[in-house]
Amino acid sequence: MPLSSPHIVFPATATEPAVTLPAIGQGTWYMGEDRLPASQEADALRHGLDHGMTLIDTAEMYGEGGAEKVVGQALAGRRDDAFVVSKVYPWNAGRDGTIAACERSLARLGIETLDLYLLHWPGSIPLEETFEAFERLREQGKIRRFGVSNFDAERLGALESLPGAADCATDQVLYHLGSRGVEVDVLPWLKARGLPAMAYCPLAQGDRQRNEVITAPVVEAIAAEHGVSAAQILLAWVIRTGAPTASDDERPTIAIPKASTLAHVEANAEALSIQLTADDLARLDDAFPAPDRPVPLDIV
Ligand SMILES: NC(=O)c1ccc[n+]([C@@H]2O[C@H](COP(=O)([O-])OP(=O)(O)OC[C@H]3O[C@@H](n4cnc5c(N)ncnc54)[C@H](OP(=O)(O)O)[C@@H]3O)[C@@H](O)[C@H]2O)c1
Repeated sequence: MPLSSPHIVFPATATEPAVTLPAIGQGTWYMGEDRLPASQEADALRHGLDHGMTLIDTAEMYGEGGAEKVVGQALAGRRDDAFVVSKVYPWNAGRDGTIAACERSLARLGIETLDLYLLHWPGSIPLEETFEAFERLREQGKIRRFGVSNFDAERLGALESLPGAADCATDQVLYHLGSRGVEVDVLPWLKARGLPAMAYCPLAQGDRQRNEVITAPVVEAIAAEHGVSAAQILLAWVIRTGAPTASDDERPTIAIPKASTLAHVEANAEALSIQLTADDLARLDDAFPAPDRPVPLDIV
């Protein structure tokens, strides 16, 4: 990856060196459900790897393991080209259940180690147990890093007192132009610790306001000015820098759009090179302002 390309950095942990990744990766929700042939979905993911979108996000939930199998197909013969993320269901996230769930995920993926393993959303099993299991998985070489997903600021604050919290790598949250609540408290929590955020539904999929966002006149106008699509503007917006400088391409957030057509994959990779101007950002802020106080976390 050229250093000038927008990227995120997972900082070094007690056991792993820092990792730099392109600021757009690939999602897999709804893959492995026979909506399309699995080979077509795997081809799309491989195409994404070829175009530099190296982080692949999956979960035991997606297609009840079907998406992990598609990712496994995509990775055949090229494991080292990808940074693989999976997630454990909250009801599997106990001391032993987490280990068993991870082993099932690894078997479906056909790999030895996950690069990042997340608790998919908060559940009733104490987080202490999940973190203890993550630590054991790390010692066993089955995961390199761990983190959480769908945690609001209050839950992030609560996890700080747990052993292992210092190595929590990220919070994967819903974030797109039409849903900016995480800017108030979740993104600042991550930023204060030097951690990247992972933005799911960056194209507003699953949101009742999807059409409102992707067909908003201001989004379409900016897209036309840049000669790109509205979807590409949404991605460029998610990975924008807070205060862009010419020399710093490190981004606070990685977007993980899911795409199953090659054209969508290419468009998403191209969004890495879109430079939104201060004027573009101001116009988007006017149309879709961030809230000025904490709001409940959006989820799908
Ligand atoms: N942690 C969590 O709780 C959680 C929740 C939801 C999602 N996620 C993760 O985040 C990923 C992304 O979220 P998502 O899949 O819900 O939604 P998304 O990425 O916002 O949107 C996906 C939709 O956008 C379409 N699309 C992709 N690229 C496009 C482009 N360039 N132009 C126009 N349309 C395009 C896709 O169509 P095609 O498939 O036809 O290309 C698909 O219908 C998921 O796949 C999953 O890995 C995590």
